[in-house]
Amino acid sequence: MGSSYIWVFLLLQCKFIFLVSAILDPVDFLALQSIRKSLDDMPGSNFLTSWDFTSDPCNFAGVYCDGNKVIALNLGDPRAGAPGLSGRLDPAIGKLSALAELSVVPGRIMGRLPGTLSNLKNLRFLAISRNFISGDIPASLGDLRNLKTLDLSYNQLTGSIPNSVGSLPALTIFILCHNKLSGSVPNFSSRSLTRLDLKHNDLSGSISPVSLPPSIQYLSLSWNRLTGPVDRLLIRLNQLNYLDLSLNQFNGYIPPRLFTFPISNLQLQRNQFCGPVQLVNQVTIPTVDLSYNRLWGQVSPLFSTVQNLYLNNNRFSGRVPASLVDRLLGGNIQILYLQHNYLTGIEINPTAEIPLRSSLCLQYNCMVPPVETPCPLKAGTQKTRPATQCNEYRG
Ligand SMILES: *[C@@H]1O[C@H](CO)[C@@H](O)[C@H](O)[C@H]1NC(C)=O
Repeated sequence: MGSSYIWVFLLLQCKFIFLVSAILDPVDFLALQSIRKSLDDMPGSNFLTSWDFTSDPCNFAGVYCDGNKVIALNLGDPRAGAPGLSGRLDPAIGKLSALAELSVVPGRIMGRLPGTLSNLKNLRFLAISRNFISGDIPASLGDLRNLKTLDLSYNQLTGSIPNSVGSLPALTIFILCHNKLSGSVPNFSSRSLTRLDLKHNDLSGSISPVSLPPSIQYLSLSWNRLTGPVDRLLIRLNQLNYLDLSLNQFNGYIPPRLFTFPISNLQLQRNQFCGPVQLVNQVTIPTVDLSYNRLWGQVSPLFSTVQNLYLNNNRFSGRVPASLVDRLLGGNIQILYLQHNYLTGIEINPTAEIPLRSSLCLQYNCMVPPVETPCPLKAGTQKTRPATQCNEYRG
């Protein structure tokens, strides 16, 4: 009697153990084998040595299972500076039907993004940065309705960003910087997009005022060939804390309201922005770079609370506000670049001591700079703008 109870107990135990260490789904097992065959460790990397298919793949480095399915695949040794992997991403990745997370460390993975990635309906996180992925972004990635993070930065991707990818409903982070993407910026429909980084590509065309959701906090479109006005777009993006539109061909006005957003770094240099910058509030953005545009009018005294202010290479005229000079001499402004404008005067004692950590450049304006200050090399050697230019400008 007593011994049969023990047998029942042991049977239950065995069943329990069997359930916990479920055997990996054979489809996932075969997919991992194909993925392994297309990859190699770079010299100095030992990531794939643990991938011995006579043991349980759920114990391999970078493989995470839930029950009998692979749910996360982190390919390559994640330690900083570790050499990555070479080879290709096998289309069999698309067979890991429960995969929620796929990442690859920086390395030398070549070839295209497998179109089969679009089968991964649970995928939430896809990050393959700093490799040599080439070809187009498959439009079918627009099927990944749960995708929140897409980072394919620092690769060799070409073609345009598919509209279907911009329409992904759950996107929060979208990073495609440093590729060779062309065409226009798609419309983004996710209401939870917070980070969009497309800098260093070859994107062109104008941007629709409704192309980005107001949830966006970090926006970089720098180093492209984008054109057109952005004032109607920017006034909607009042959560911005970082904005870099530099090195494009944007034109039109800079909306004054932009300067009231919680931005810590505003980079609008090297565009074709024009008009006066009519501020209504004291600017509390630490770094403001508006250099190399076509801005004109007076320099607003409300800029005096900026720490690094680049207004050089524009068409500003009038006198430099006393509040800027005060803050500079007090060491609160560290950079005040006003060179290459049409400014006609500045209230500063010629013997005033500019704090060592601060820089003031006044070169090439419609005045003789009253103080000798070191300017960046690019400002040239000419202290004053030729009188003919100054007279023409005043009309
Ligand atoms: C984005 O949406 C606007 C307004 O619906 C539309 O005019 C524009 O063509 C769209 N842009 C792209 C790239 O599809």
